Amino acid sequence: MNNNIVNLQDKLQALLLSQQGNFVQGSVADYIPALAKVNPALAGISVAAIDGKTVGVGDYQRPFSIQSISKVFGLVMAMNRIGDSLWQRVNMEPSGQPFNSIIQLEWEKGIPRNPVINAGALLVADVLTSHFSASKLAFLSFMRTLAGTEAIYVDNNVYQSELSHGNRNAALAYLMKSFGNIQADIPALLSHYFTQCSVSMSCEQLAQSLLFLANKGVDPRTNEVICSPKDAHRVNAILSTSGMYDQSGEFAFSVGLPAKSGVGGGIIAIVPGYGVICTWSPPLNKFGNSVVGVNLVAAIAEELGLSIYH
Ligand code: DON
Repeated sequence: MNNNIVNLQDKLQALLLSQQGNFVQGSVADYIPALAKVNPALAGISVAAIDGKTVGVGDYQRPFSIQSISKVFGLVMAMNRIGDSLWQRVNMEPSGQPFNSIIQLEWEKGIPRNPVINAGALLVADVLTSHFSASKLAFLSFMRTLAGTEAIYVDNNVYQSELSHGNRNAALAYLMKSFGNIQADIPALLSHYFTQCSVSMSCEQLAQSLLFLANKGVDPRTNEVICSPKDAHRVNAILSTSGMYDQSGEFAFSVGLPAKSGVGGGIIAIVPGYGVICTWSPPLNKFGNSVVGVNLVAAIAEELGLSIYH
């Protein structure tokens, strides 16, 4: 390890320690009962750089439920599969609403505001369910390729829990179907969506898996093209304006990185040309974003001068 890496590791350790008192500030997601059982004091950080170096502290190798972070991977798969026609069925505007809101969807005739709120992710799940003969398997193998390991699994407890508490997602999907914007059978589409949300991965695996978004669509470890430079730009743009839901404006204002959160407590932040930060701490704020995770990403971005608006 060179000095820079040792320094970064020390800095991350100090930042994680500085957050010890903040685990009690949020509450672990309990609308999916399986998530309510997670220890709120677990926390980790991983920073993966496009030059191949990865640093981690705390519980950075412990798998957690990736939840809405899966929306980023699903979106890339759908863009690759159906190209620009996707943008006739989903918009690219911030919603100004909670992640699972239904109210705007009727006003806007079943066209979701963006692909990373639930309605948009369900639309993306429809594309995947309709265009892959085995979409869940295709999703898992995409994740395994990106993570560089076969050992990526769906947490069946979380999946079952989501399935039995998924009425709001079902309502969003049926409403879109009533407007003719959904092709697949709703139960199949929901099964795909809950499967991708129930994948477990560690901070280290997530940070490394998303390096292509920091590198114009090319995985720097393998030189494999994962998406076009244009689509990498588009995903980063959507994450900048909508990835932190109704806190996206404040996050851009104070941090300045494309990012995506999940109700499992994970946050990924893309630093174009540099790498990916992933943090995990389960207690959430009222927007559904990890309290400690937001603090950590903000502190790392500040410490390393990573804002894209500099
Ligand atoms: O749709 C749901 O309820 C979850 N499976 C995913 C939601 C989520 O992670 C929202 N993000 N903060």
